Amino acid sequence: RSEEKVTVYFINRDGRKITTSSAKGDSLLDLVVEQNLDIEGFGACEGTLACSTCHVILDQKVYNQLGPITDEENDMLDLAFGLTDTSRLGCQVCLSRDLEGITVRVPDGVNDMRRSDDAGPTL
Ligand code: FES
Repeated sequence: RSEEKVTVYFINRDGRKITTSSAKGDSLLDLVVEQNLDIEGFGACEGTLACSTCHVILDQKVYNQLGPITDEENDMLDLAFGLTDTSRLGCQVCLSRDLEGITVRVPDGVNDMRRSDDAGPTL
């Protein structure tokens, strides 16, 4: 395929950096699945906005570049572990050329809303 690729740097839960790329139009979740990235517990609901395990933290600049967040995403994001002002759900962020070279930080804990207990570390 000759599709344009967008380079994305992931900072994994353990702080390790992963350099990867995926086609334009893919979501960050698509990328993680397709590239088989080893990010524990990521994308548990397969992008159906029923978990918050795909929570990622973006740079302010990147966050501003992305379009508005839907109510559905916001509701789920509220439940994410370690929510920040520049948090998004990875399954709702799609790659475009503007996002070339972005860094995506994966927080070191997850709340899987399908479980009742908190799997994240207590800070
Ligand atoms: Fe579950 Fe994104 S993968 S909300």
